[in-house]
Amino acid sequence: MGNIILTGFMGTGKSSVGKELALRLNYRYIDLDALIVAEAGISINEIFTRDGETAFRAIEARLLSSLKGEENMVLSTGGGAVIAGENRRVLRELGMVINLVAPAEEILLRLRHEHDRPLLNNDKSLERIRALIAHREPFYADADVRIETCGKTVAGIVDEILIWLKRAGARGQA
Ligand code: S3P
Repeated sequence: MGNIILTGFMGTGKSSVGKELALRLNYRYIDLDALIVAEAGISINEIFTRDGETAFRAIEARLLSSLKGEENMVLSTGGGAVIAGENRRVLRELGMVINLVAPAEEILLRLRHEHDRPLLNNDKSLERIRALIAHREPFYADADVRIETCGKTVAGIVDEILIWLKRAGARGQA
C-alpha cells in the first residue's frame, strides 16, 4: 500500500491518530511539523515570530515535497499545509488523503490551554476558529475521505480509518 496522509484543522487529532494508525499498520510515522522544527532548530512559534508565516509555509512546502518517493508512511500534516494547491497535489501523489474533522466548539475546548499555535495565540476565540475553518473548508474537502472525530476515541477513529482503507482497497481491486 502507498502512504496515508492525515489533514485537518489544528486540534483534530492528526498526531495522536497518525501515531496509532502507523503502529497498527506497521508503517513509519512522520509528522510534517516535527520535520520543520527539526530542520529549523527552533519552535513553530519562533519561526512565525522571527521569519513570518510565509517563511514557515515555504519550509513546509519544501519538506513536504522532499517526502516524494516514500512508502509505507503515515504522514500528519500541519493544519495549513492543504492551503497551497501545489501541496495538495503532492499529498495526492503521496497517497490516500484522510481529512479529520471536528466542530469549532470542540477545537476550542481541545486547544484552550495550548500556546504553541501561532495562528491562534493572539485570538483563540470561537469566531477566529470558525473563520479559519470556513476559509480552509474547500481545501480540507479535497480528500479521499473525511472522518468526524468529535466524541470518538483515538482507537475508535483508527478502527474507522482501517475499515475505510480495507473497503477502498477492495474497490481499487474490483
Ligand atoms: C498551522 C497548524 C499547525 C502548524 C502551524 C500552522 C495552521 O499544525 O503547522 O502552527 O496553519 O493551521 P497543527 O495542525 O498540527 O496544529
